[in-house]
Amino acid sequence: MNCIVVVDRNWAIGHEGGLLFSLPTDMKRFRSLTMDGTVILGRKTLDTFPGGKPLPKRRNIVISRNSEFQREGVEVVATPQAALELAAGTEDDKLWVIGGGSVYTALLSRCKRVYLTKVDNAAPEADTFFPNLDKLPGWEVERVSEDVEENGCTYRFVDYVNTKL
Ligand SMILES: NC(=O)c1ccc[n+]([C@@H]2O[C@H](COP(=O)([O-])OP(=O)(O)OC[C@H]3O[C@@H](n4cnc5c(N)ncnc54)[C@H](OP(=O)(O)O)[C@@H]3O)[C@@H](O)[C@H]2O)c1
Repeated sequence: MNCIVVVDRNWAIGHEGGLLFSLPTDMKRFRSLTMDGTVILGRKTLDTFPGGKPLPKRRNIVISRNSEFQREGVEVVATPQAALELAAGTEDDKLWVIGGGSVYTALLSRCKRVYLTKVDNAAPEADTFFPNLDKLPGWEVERVSEDVEENGCTYRFVDYVNTKL
């Protein structure tokens, strides 16, 4: 299982339920990496998608404590562990943790790789963060891309590997 996330220079990922940056090249990469795979996400992140609809052409497993929650095209589970159980049998590199903050925190240690998009800018405001992998034991940088300049942001793709798995 892998994780995919965009962080700013302070490892912030969101503010008031939304993303911090609009990065078209990053979005294309996200789409291409996750396409035809299975994504695991929190109910709040699902609500940030257009119309609250699941990501097309992917199996969407949504975590919610609300036992009445349901939405078309989505499989709902009550815990992160239940998401893993439901996804058991999925090819490892086709299973993606896509956020938000609480789901990343819950499942990070179970991920082999984090496909991190590191933005040099600092978002003016943020309320949701990703763990700082440079300070977390067991995480090593495997690959760093060239810089991308877009919408006033400079960023790059940094792949981290979990040496404990
Ligand atoms: N930068 C990025 O790459 C990126 C990616 C994704 C999201 N984000 C941002 O992250 C923010 C959302 O993150 P978030 O942490 O607030 O919300 P979230 O993780 O997307 O969703 C939280 C919800 O998931 C359910 N949940 C979480 N942990 C659970 C557990 N252990 N057991 C059962 N249910 C659980 C609960 O749903 P119920 O309330 O229904 O019970 C909870 O309210 C937004 O700002 C979003 O834009 C950023």
